[in-house]
Amino acid sequence: MHSVPPGAAGGERFDVAWLERALAGTTLGHPLLYFRDIGSTNTEAVALARTGTAEGTLLLTDHQTAGRGRIGRVWQSLPGQQLQFSLILHPTFPPHFLVMASALAVVEAIRVETGLDAAIKWPNDVLIGGRKVAGILIEASGGAVVLGIGVNVNSTLAGWPELAARATTLADATGSQVIREALAAAILTRLDASYADLQQRGEVAQQAIRAAWRGQLETLGRAVVIHQNGGEVRGVAEDVDAGGELIVREANGTRQIITWGDVE
Ligand code: BTN
Repeated sequence: MHSVPPGAAGGERFDVAWLERALAGTTLGHPLLYFRDIGSTNTEAVALARTGTAEGTLLLTDHQTAGRGRIGRVWQSLPGQQLQFSLILHPTFPPHFLVMASALAVVEAIRVETGLDAAIKWPNDVLIGGRKVAGILIEASGGAVVLGIGVNVNSTLAGWPELAARATTLADATGSQVIREALAAAILTRLDASYADLQQRGEVAQQAIRAAWRGQLETLGRAVVIHQNGGEVRGVAEDVDAGGELIVREANGTRQIITWGDVE
């Protein structure tokens, strides 16, 4: 666990200097561009990537006014209470391994920083006790990839019963404030290590990431409903293939390979 930045817990302004020191030894996170408010770090990063920005550039904010989620959804902002950041990367490997490495980094960082048992819901949501606590949005921009991560850290969703039924914050789950800066450092240092491994060791690293990611997938072995464009596939989630696609066995025995969608 990282040493605690003074007064950071629950503080509304992110301690950027502390995170910069914590990331002194990493490739990812430099330069670190902080925005008190922004529409969306992913939207900004997509635009920035077109200008040929440095590998590992990090855009981080305390508040998004137009945060975006997967499948055109809105990512709700709790000002000063979440982690919301995007990285500009140039992976030489298939990008779904980056998503797997990111989900793993978030799960491990949450465990180390809070002791909470987090798990991955296919394709890349991070859950605690069945409720979503973090999401990942990956987008291509020119030759670059923009990786956006959002984590509900502090504050409570108690005032939004409908949202609280399917989402949570780390503070709601632990009953205490969590240091956002330390959590960001824990995620980014883990991602830095696995990204370097994926860039350097090719298929060996890809297999290791996939195996670790699969080990944290709570979706496997469960009865699932996959929602796609108003349609649905029902069955048992049997496995994930090498491409990270979900293999679902329907009641009539048909094997469906699911590349995208929402799992219920
Ligand atoms: C999802 O679960 O649907 C993905 C959520 C991704 C949210 C993050 S917050 C930082 C970055 N900027 C965005 O607009 N979205 C991602």
